[in-house]
Amino acid sequence: MSMAGEFWLIVMLFVLVGLFVFGIILNHFLPLFLKHGLVPKGSFGYPLLGETLSFLKSHPSNSIGSFLQEHCSRYGKVFTSHLFFSPTVVSCDQELNYFILQNEDKLFQCSYPKPIHGILGKVSMLVAVSETHKKLRNVALSLVNTTKSKPEFLNDVERIATQVLNSWQNKEQVIFCDEARRFAFNVIVKQVLGLTPNEPRATQILQDFRTFMKGLISLPLFIPGTPYARAVQARNRISSTVKAIIEERRRRNVDGGDDENSSSNRSDFLEILLCVDTLSEDEKVSFVLDSLLGGYETTFLLMAMVVYFLGQSNLAMEQLKIEHESIRKMKDKDDHYLNWEDYKKMVFTQHVINEALRSGNIVKFVHRKALKDVKFRDYVIPSGWKVLPIFSAVHLDPSIHANAFQFNPWRWLDEDQTCKKFTPFGGGSRCCPGSELGKVEVAFFLHHLIQNYRWRVEDGEQPIAFPYVEFRRGLTLNISRCSE
Ligand code: HEM
Repeated sequence: MSMAGEFWLIVMLFVLVGLFVFGIILNHFLPLFLKHGLVPKGSFGYPLLGETLSFLKSHPSNSIGSFLQEHCSRYGKVFTSHLFFSPTVVSCDQELNYFILQNEDKLFQCSYPKPIHGILGKVSMLVAVSETHKKLRNVALSLVNTTKSKPEFLNDVERIATQVLNSWQNKEQVIFCDEARRFAFNVIVKQVLGLTPNEPRATQILQDFRTFMKGLISLPLFIPGTPYARAVQARNRISSTVKAIIEERRRRNVDGGDDENSSSNRSDFLEILLCVDTLSEDEKVSFVLDSLLGGYETTFLLMAMVVYFLGQSNLAMEQLKIEHESIRKMKDKDDHYLNWEDYKKMVFTQHVINEALRSGNIVKFVHRKALKDVKFRDYVIPSGWKVLPIFSAVHLDPSIHANAFQFNPWRWLDEDQTCKKFTPFGGGSRCCPGSELGKVEVAFFLHHLIQNYRWRVEDGEQPIAFPYVEFRRGLTLNISRCSE
């Protein structure tokens, strides 16, 4: 090629690169220019990535983190940003959060990042919208309602709690997250699939489940060997295992089965799901996965939060112990197991659980998008933008909760737990259907823990929002048995 030809080729290349960069910048900032003056104030950060990395930067989950702190003090409680590859309105405002949750499918809609759909599947309740969501949710609500107070479920919870605690007998130290995971997983696989922990299928599901969870919080690269790709494969394996269990159960029910395994003796989700004719086979499998996912990770974290915060308050521990001892004393000698009425009597326990949910913020925020231009106060949330209601910001707002950074279960004596300022389980038509199951599990575990053990949290342990909460060292507890 001649010198002139090379020169023009280089010029063309520069022009093309320039146009490309200009296109990205325009795409990135155009929404702000178009709606200028109406959208909340804020900053967009870098092209494409925006401010995602600073937003996701880890911080103790009982704080709001530097990103929210800086942005709220610069722009106010509602601000614009660019997160997860989309222009976004971030809300740390209790009124707006409530408005978003109450207007699901009307003005806003659940909108988790696409890679999460890749792992959970299209018909997962967590990502489904409109009619599919409604149909799945109705089944979930009726299952939870029939399960939560059933003696079979409550007795299983207690049995599994005492199994875990019995294994501590000769120990001075435990990694509590491992113990809580074991408890929550054993409860949920028993309740959903009727499996006991030593069955090989339960072990297989647990293994696949861990791979699945790692992928949910990884970079979404579908390249063989990456955590994301492994999670998609793990999900497929869990699906096959669940399908095989469903098939087996169907055959057994047709054949009549032995006494112990006959359908009349079973009260797990699967048995009820088999009779639901509004769900397809794939929806039933997905439903089982949602229940495992929803019921495992969050419940074990709630247990960890409760134990962590109680470790900082001898007074709360004492009051909790008195409550549980008096419930035990009121029961008949041969009436071993706790029941739903006992759970309702655990009033201080409920305060402790609420306070651990408020302080620990297991779910920091949820993903939504605006379905149309939405006017709220004097600004507009443009159609198609991402909207993130941040629950932790409201839970830790000192103008809403007095001494917000202090763990104080007694505040719930006066505070209304069903109101706008407390949303650990979300709200509106996507509010967590499993909240009561999770809470009763934690309360029954605490019943045995508090009467048998004292604990001290090892220095340096702290719940970290990443944004999924974790205790990096697994929450090490130094334990000692209570003297009789
Ligand atoms: C104990 C602690 C728990 C916490 C903090 C928690 C939190 C949440 C939150 C915040 C949501 C709303 C998500 C959104 O709006 O996008 C949710 C939804 C959900 N949770 Fe829970 N959850 C807990 C326990 C459970 C349990 C035990 C189960 C099942 C047995 C469960 C199953 C679900 C399901 C299926 C959904 C989706 C509901 C829907 O989209 O309609 N959760 N949970």
